[in-house]
Amino acid sequence: MRWLIHDYREDDLAAVVHLIDTTAELGQESVFSLAECISALTSRQPAVVAVHQGVPIGAALASVAGERAWVMRIAIAPAWRGRGLASSLLRELERRLVACRVRRIAYVLPEEELLGEGLRNAGYTRRPAAAYFEKDEPRAGAASGLLEELGGRLLPGDLWAKVAGMETEKNLIERRVVAPLAEPERAARHGVRPPRAIALFGPPGTGKTTFARAIASRLGWPFVELLPSRLADEGNLAAALRDAFARIGQLERALVFIDEVEEIAPLRTEAVQGGMHGVTNELLKLIPGFREGEERLLVCATNSIRSLDPAFLRPGRFDYLIPIGTPDAAARSAIWSRYAAGREDVDLDALVGASELFTPADIEHVARVAAQAAFERDLAGADLGAADLGAADPGAAGPAGTGPAGTVAAGREAAEGASTTDYLAAIAQARPTVTPAMIEEFGADISSHARV
Ligand SMILES: Nc1ncnc2c1ncn2[C@@H]1O[C@H](COP(=O)(O)OP(=O)(O)OP(=O)(O)O)[C@@H](O)[C@H]1O
Ligand SMILES: [Mg+2]
Repeated sequence: MRWLIHDYREDDLAAVVHLIDTTAELGQESVFSLAECISALTSRQPAVVAVHQGVPIGAALASVAGERAWVMRIAIAPAWRGRGLASSLLRELERRLVACRVRRIAYVLPEEELLGEGLRNAGYTRRPAAAYFEKDEPRAGAASGLLEELGGRLLPGDLWAKVAGMETEKNLIERRVVAPLAEPERAARHGVRPPRAIALFGPPGTGKTTFARAIASRLGWPFVELLPSRLADEGNLAAALRDAFARIGQLERALVFIDEVEEIAPLRTEAVQGGMHGVTNELLKLIPGFREGEERLLVCATNSIRSLDPAFLRPGRFDYLIPIGTPDAAARSAIWSRYAAGREDVDLDALVGASELFTPADIEHVARVAAQAAFERDLAGADLGAADLGAADPGAAGPAGTGPAGTVAAGREAAEGASTTDYLAAIAQARPTVTPAMIEEFGADISSHARV
């Protein structure tokens, strides 16, 4: 593991002051003095601390003034420079600033030093005549109260990059959906009308919700999820939907997400039986109005596209019906590397081979089980004492020649995270969500429904 970043706590003060103090001569100084930094820390301004094996190795602090925040200092222990820690700290700090309703983040450096390049990469612009970097956060505007009422919010900006693998789906969504919405004028020059509604379908846990959130993050639009169960609490679901869409119409821009949409737009026969007929009709009537707005996108997700009302899905209402399937080998490799990041001793190919048909959600679960096994072994090792660590580690105790797991060094190394053996054991115990029969059904759904 590289490091953990947590919110600044009172008992971090001495370590953070030490970091700020000792790194000042290393080109990490800022226009804020040590005293100002301490004053910000003690008055509970936003700050984050990175620790490695319990030792603080970096800190970033800011002070907030209304809608603007000033990054006061990013201090990195010398041994940890050039490893991406500054960007990680800045990202975490930004997340907290956005939560404080900050709209503009400024970072003033005494002169353009090494950090400048990193700041540009993080979206900051250098102002001429001064080493003055600032960054605008997307504005929720006057409609932010409305957005809150709708349960909507701006998501962190990096969700698209966090979708591991799934290159085919990412590429398709990028070209068909994100690009025309992000560049409407260029699209219009080619007669392309940006999509206003898309449906994502596929087996459970393949990443439909993840994609919906990632698109919102990518566009910098607020994400508004309509939860039929919550809307139904208001009594009349059809009326509640109408009201929600009317309020969404007042937002400047929005990505509206409806998950498990088959529940509110089922096949006619089932709709009549389940008393949903009026709700489906209401939704059919609402979509044309929604489509007239600019800078909005409706994303519906379903595990069962075949149980949706065909009238609901027809072209003119939905621009694209995009399948999201289980990850192929390349995508699984990307997802596995997410969990085994930076650990060369883990045999990715073995994990990829053993996890066919696993969804990202299954892989996430298995990675958690394996990490937990490593953690518990570490706890047991601490109890036993350092001499017994090797014996407590199945990776080290495994037969020779079983690949990287068998060659993991005993003791400290082995205690750091799950080994290939841990992962393979967790895979063997897991039950993948998606069965071959479901894959077959999904293939049939793609032939009969996909529209890309
Ligand atoms: N490409 C990916 N890379 C890494 N993690 C992913 C990816 N796709 C999904 N995940 C993770 O897998 C889990 C399930 O994803 P998600 O909820 O998006 O699936 P879903 O298709 O919406 O499932 P459901 O049909 O049950 O609603 C989430 O925890 C998500 O973070
Ligand atoms: Mg989902």
